[in-house]
Amino acid sequence: MEIAPGTDTSGEWDPEALGQVVANLLSNALKYSPAATPIDIRIVGDDEQVTLSVSDHGIGLGPQEAAQLFHRYARASGAVETGIPGIGLGLFLARGIVKAHGGTIRAESAGRGQGTTFEVVIPRTVPVEQATSATSSAL
Ligand SMILES: Nc1ncnc2c1ncn2[C@@H]1O[C@H](COP(=O)(O)OP(=O)(O)O)[C@@H](O)[C@H]1O
Ligand SMILES: [Mg+2]
Repeated sequence: MEIAPGTDTSGEWDPEALGQVVANLLSNALKYSPAATPIDIRIVGDDEQVTLSVSDHGIGLGPQEAAQLFHRYARASGAVETGIPGIGLGLFLARGIVKAHGGTIRAESAGRGQGTTFEVVIPRTVPVEQATSATSSAL
């Protein structure tokens, strides 16, 4: 794990919800990569936002799959083929939490077997319009 020197890792966030996002990304990285390979966690930030990335050396993703994984019950074909169990809700929930914080989440892979990187960007303060819509969608 690497936190860029001097990075302030604090923000006005829901710690429990963001903890779920991190736990989801780490459990996926562990699930979808061989036990002996490292998982790299990187945190960098500036005045406005903090970026977290989680990279593994696992099964990777096929072309066009990266954008689909955040839909409810979505699983990539490679994951299904491995027989590793999953229901495809973790990233859907993670995206909801990140969006409610005014942030973005995306996946990137050079291809099947090439590992995967997930990147979460969260503003330090949730924009007012985002907080309002998150509240109303929760009601
Ligand atoms: N680190 C990863 N490497 C490769 N594929 C991944 C990774 N994380 C998630 N995925 C893909 O995204 C899908 C959705 O992830 P998620 O919603 O957490 O569901 P689950 O963990 O139940 O499979 C997974 O089924 C898998 O296809
Ligand atoms: Mg998962």
